[in-house]
Order: sequence, then C-alpha cells, then structure tokens
Amino acid sequence: MAAMTIAKLTEMKKNGEKIASLTAYDASFAKLFAAQNIDFMLIGDSLGNTIQGASSTLPVTVDDIAYHTKAVRNGAPDAFVMADMPFMSYATPEQACQEAAKLMRAGANMVKLEGGDWLLDTIRQLVERGVPVCAHLGLLPQSVNVLGGYKVQGKEASAADNTLRQAQALEAAGAQLLVLECIPTSLGKRISEALSIPTIGIGAGPHCDGQILVMHDMFGLNSDYLPKFVKNFLAETGDLAAAVALYVKQVKEGSFPGPEHSFKG
Ligand code: KIV
Ligand code: NA
Repeated sequence: MAAMTIAKLTEMKKNGEKIASLTAYDASFAKLFAAQNIDFMLIGDSLGNTIQGASSTLPVTVDDIAYHTKAVRNGAPDAFVMADMPFMSYATPEQACQEAAKLMRAGANMVKLEGGDWLLDTIRQLVERGVPVCAHLGLLPQSVNVLGGYKVQGKEASAADNTLRQAQALEAAGAQLLVLECIPTSLGKRISEALSIPTIGIGAGPHCDGQILVMHDMFGLNSDYLPKFVKNFLAETGDLAAAVALYVKQVKEGSFPGPEHSFKG
C-alpha cells in the first residue's frame, strides 16, 4: 500500500471515507496495526498512563515520546506517525520548534499540541519551518489540574461556540488535523462540518471524520476504569489482529462509535 499522507487524509474527509487511528508505543504493535491498515498512529503522551503507570500525562518528557516514536517507526516504516508534544514542551513558539525537531528526527510525520487561541502563533511557526501540526481541542488532559478533572467539555452553548471558533482559528493558522476529545456529539458534528481539515474524535461522537482510541483501551487492558467512549474489541474477537480489524471495519462503516459511546447534546 502507498504511504499515507496528510493530503490523502484530507481527501478521505472530502470523499466521506472515515479515518481509523490508534495510539501505538512500540514496534510490535505498530507492525500489527500497519498490517490491519490503520490510517495513522499516534505516539500519545497517554504513554504516561499506559506505559509508565502515572495517573496523568504530566510526567511525560520529549525524550520519552522520542524513544517510543523511534520504536513505532522501526515497526512500521511506511506508516503515518504523529507524535504528541508533552506537557510544557511548547510553552513558547521557539521552544516548540526545538522540541518538535527532536520528535521529527525520531521519525514522526506530524506533531500534536493541546490548546486553542494561545497556540496560533506557535502553529504558524512550526508549519513555516516544516513541521505539520495536529491541534487538539475539547478535553485537554495536560490541563487536568486547571480543568479540575477529566470532564466533558463544550456542553454549554457559549462554550460550544467558543470551541468552534477556536477550531476555525487553528485551521486558519495552519493546523492540518484536529483531535476532538470528550465533547457532545452535536458539537463534534458542527466542527467537522465547518472545517475542511479532518477531525479525529475520541468521545466526540460519530460525525467526526475519523476516530482514535488508546490501544490499551480498545484491547480492554485498562481494567480499573473504562471511559464511556471506549469499546473493548478484543472481548468480541479473542485475537489481537482480529480486534484491530473489527475496530477499523466499524469505524469505516460508521457503526463505532455508537450512541452508547458518545455524549448527548
Ligand atoms: O495521548 C493520547 O493518546 C491522545 C489521544 C487520546 C488522542 O492524545
Ligand atoms: Na495526548
């Protein structure tokens, strides 16, 4: 299969073809995901939770993400790979450029940053210097201490309008993808329709242009607490490759996420 590109992901949105993605942190799973035609993989700072056992993503460093990005790249040489910029690694545009370079050198095709208006200049500078950017709105796990917990965002009309406005500003600044985390289905739909860049939802309803899940969650490995938007695809299939194939199939046909995995409103 020809290598995935941002242009192809954008074309998929235009054609109404859903994008199926997962987090990946190591070579073995990256190889498995590539074999099941996952459209792209994210080296998420969720590795703070899944790999390191921390209770948030805040302890994760750029070196941690770079280490796992290299592993994923080695396992899936042709995959489209996005790397999270971790907490406080993009506090200024200059810092963002220096730290993003480490992730691009480790094998990333794109970096992801959490936030809205304050990031517009950073995004412009990264893109001008050759670093494609995925933005991230809704629930921002790096801001959990400001938000006061992992809660659905954008429920009130004014908050929803503000999130939509920020999404449009991020696109105008040069972001080429947008992750939407834990927002009501209606807001996921509005934003996806208003933008020409693809939206990738996690707990953002079925109308996003694509979906992403933390791989451990979709294999049911997170035993203490499963968020509402998670589905255990391994339970239904009993086989890792078949679980990934079922996830891809259900995202592509639009049967995942269902209303039971989405937030009303
Ligand atoms: O770190 C992560 O895994 C993420 C996804 C949940 C989008 O940012
Ligand atoms: Na993340």
